[in-house]
Amino acid sequence: MDFKLSEEHKLVRDAARDFANTELLPGVIERDNKQTFPDELVKKMGQLGFMGIMVDPKYGGSGMDAISYVLIMEELSKIDASASVIVSVNNSLVCYGLETFANEEQKQKYLTKLATGEFIGAFCLSEPEAGSDATSQRTTAEDKGDHYIINGTKNWITSGGRADVYLVIAQTDKHKGSHGINAFILEKGMPGFDIGPKEDKLGIRGSDTHTLQFNDVKVPKENRIGEDGAGFRFAMKTLSGGRIGIAAQALGIAAGAYELALKYSKVRKAFGTEICNHQAIAFKLADMYVDIEAARHLVMKAAWDKDQGNSYDVSSAVAKLYASKVAMEHTVEAVQIHGGNGFVKEYHVERLMRDAKITQIYEGTSEIQKIVISRNLIKE
Ligand code: CAA
Repeated sequence: MDFKLSEEHKLVRDAARDFANTELLPGVIERDNKQTFPDELVKKMGQLGFMGIMVDPKYGGSGMDAISYVLIMEELSKIDASASVIVSVNNSLVCYGLETFANEEQKQKYLTKLATGEFIGAFCLSEPEAGSDATSQRTTAEDKGDHYIINGTKNWITSGGRADVYLVIAQTDKHKGSHGINAFILEKGMPGFDIGPKEDKLGIRGSDTHTLQFNDVKVPKENRIGEDGAGFRFAMKTLSGGRIGIAAQALGIAAGAYELALKYSKVRKAFGTEICNHQAIAFKLADMYVDIEAARHLVMKAAWDKDQGNSYDVSSAVAKLYASKVAMEHTVEAVQIHGGNGFVKEYHVERLMRDAKITQIYEGTSEIQKIVISRNLIKE
């Protein structure tokens, strides 16, 4: 077992770190304040190959592995979790979903543009009454022979207003339960496809989250992904990989907060010495370091499972569950170490604390990760 990163992986990590520090950092507070989507930065990330990290170069991707993906996600998320969620959804939900399950024509038409960042993708599963309980889709897709008619509402859709391509999960036959669900490729501007107002969020405020409304949207049959009824398995399989990305995001948020807290504790003085010399602070730093290292190992293990062709349903759920808990707990500690300054925006830790919360909610809440893990334990 080799825990060392290869030279290639180190180069990828350093490139992402450099981009995060030079390009994402300067405007991150303003984007968070004003809820501004990072249009130009997404284009630059496309040019760097970050929008199609694992996609085969024949479809315009970077052809890198999942280890590279999590290294990039961690570095971007240390600085800007809003930018990193756009990257994560585009890579592990939209590009992966299309590369793995779409036909050649669909890949040529959509994946080639999504992998280069020319297009942005959104993944539309959640509904007002089907967040955790994903089988209970209310959005319907009525089979009309050569096309489907889609009706319904999707909630909390990342990049909902900015995306060009939307992968939409809808029910075609409710009597068949999870086997009556399909996934479709929709394009912005299709008649009847309306984008609702932008959500005003606690965290990841630089990302773009919307409700989507479908009113008799006519979708050609060739836009269905895979066989009839394969949509639920498509969504579950895709989300397993998505959870690796969000686990890496949570890791990055935690590591970013820890690095800031460590630095601050070495310069801030109280009771005659730098605060890192007080055990009250030093023990917090030690706890943060241990938990972040543990989270990093779990994230790497899940990515490694994916690269090896192993099942990663459980390892991705384990990594996401743990890394998101660490992110939440230790961003709070990072604010505490900063004292009053931690409550002030220019010190960045309060934003990381707000951003951390969503990692325990999207792509399956922590409770959903426990369902996935425990069901697999019982099955074994
Ligand atoms: N791979 C392949 N197939 C899978 C699978 C997987 N990982 N997980 C389940 N399936 C299959 C099952 O084998 C089963 O097939 P059969 O009927 O043939 O046996 C079928 O799917 C139904 O499975 P379950 O009975 O387990 O389904 P369930 O209704 O009990 O739900 C669940 C399982 C894990 C709770 C699921 O509903 C779930 O993951 N919910 C959370 C949804 C979620 O993560 N939403 C996030 C939205 S996307 C997002 O957040 C993106 C963003 O913006 C950042």
